[in-house]
Amino acid sequence: MNAGEKFTPVRPKPPENVPNVFKILMECSKDLIGFWPAAAYNAEIIGKRLINRHIFIINSPETVEHTFVKNNHIYESKSPFMIKVLKPLLGDGLFISDGEIWKQRRAMEAPDYKSDKLKEFSSVMTECASECLDNWENNFVGKEILALQEMASLTAEILSRALFGNELGHKNAGKIITAFSEYQASVKLFYLLFYFGLPEWFPKIPQRQISLDMARKIHVVVDNIIKEHLAKKEDPNTLLSMLLRNYKVDGSGSITLEQVRNEAVVILMAGHETTANSLAWTWYLLATHPEKRHELNEELDRVLGGRQPEFNDISKLSYTGAVIEEALRLYPPVSLLGRQSIQEDHINGNKIPAKSVMLVIP
Ligand code: HEM
Repeated sequence: MNAGEKFTPVRPKPPENVPNVFKILMECSKDLIGFWPAAAYNAEIIGKRLINRHIFIINSPETVEHTFVKNNHIYESKSPFMIKVLKPLLGDGLFISDGEIWKQRRAMEAPDYKSDKLKEFSSVMTECASECLDNWENNFVGKEILALQEMASLTAEILSRALFGNELGHKNAGKIITAFSEYQASVKLFYLLFYFGLPEWFPKIPQRQISLDMARKIHVVVDNIIKEHLAKKEDPNTLLSMLLRNYKVDGSGSITLEQVRNEAVVILMAGHETTANSLAWTWYLLATHPEKRHELNEELDRVLGGRQPEFNDISKLSYTGAVIEEALRLYPPVSLLGRQSIQEDHINGNKIPAKSVMLVIP
């Protein structure tokens, strides 16, 4: 694409009207955003009754703030359906917990995500990126690679080493991620049904057993890593050590080993695909914008002069940061966010009955 040309990112063409419920259910397992009508992109709030529940799409800053921030005591409830889908894997982990458990765990874990803590993981990131580059240079020069697949391997390796340390992380990354992919594939349909507020008694599908087996497989691997970690008492700078700070062998700590495992699995699940997707879209955008790629390379050469980046370079790499933020803006890796109301509410004159599903589609 040439400078000055108007760029329209690839996107689905919205249908004129809301498709019927069966079409939505058929479509949504392939594509989560293609079936939303044009109006869904412009309205501050738009609602529809689907089967037994009201669904509202809220996409303006005000309606999102109303639901997720100012009145989150009304909308804190993560849907029972979503909990049912993810509980076999995540137990009471942060991602699906609510109320007091969520508050306590969130307060416990949030300090570990501050930027001075993240600094400790920057060398893991550069090491993994450089191994990925070596692999490309040794095996793929002049050949095509699948960007999403490569980025998924890279982010899985980074997360696994940040969580479990270089040795245990590297040894187990492949096993965990394969089981994860199978778990996610097996619950995909269930997961989507959650968004559309289908009741909990919705018939079980055969994939349910696969998902339970995969969850058990992941638990065994992570439980063994935790045991090895505790036995060796090393690597104090891993995310796992941070989670284990609150665990006491005599049971007096604020977290049990099972809960530590749940939080470790949440981190793997939440951090792996999101980052892989955003990096893959970044490559797509750079491939379609050579002039921006040129500016990016110019900044990297100027700031780094050919050496590997360090944490302190981040503040100097402002164009690089803008490229990533633009990719996140155009292609948000989490394309749907859901909440369920626990009591009646009103937004911009619209009555929101209890148990409505509220969706933000970034
Ligand atoms: C581009 C990267 C990422 C994006 C776009 C992203 C997006 C999100 C979003 C939208 C949520 C909120 C979900 C909801 O409330 O319904 C969330 C939650 C969460 N994410 Fe991420 N995420 C990213 C990377 C990561 C990484 C790398 C980690 C861990 C290392 C992580 C850990 C979590 C956790 C633990 C939660 C649950 C927080 C809570 O319920 O309090 N995420 N993420």
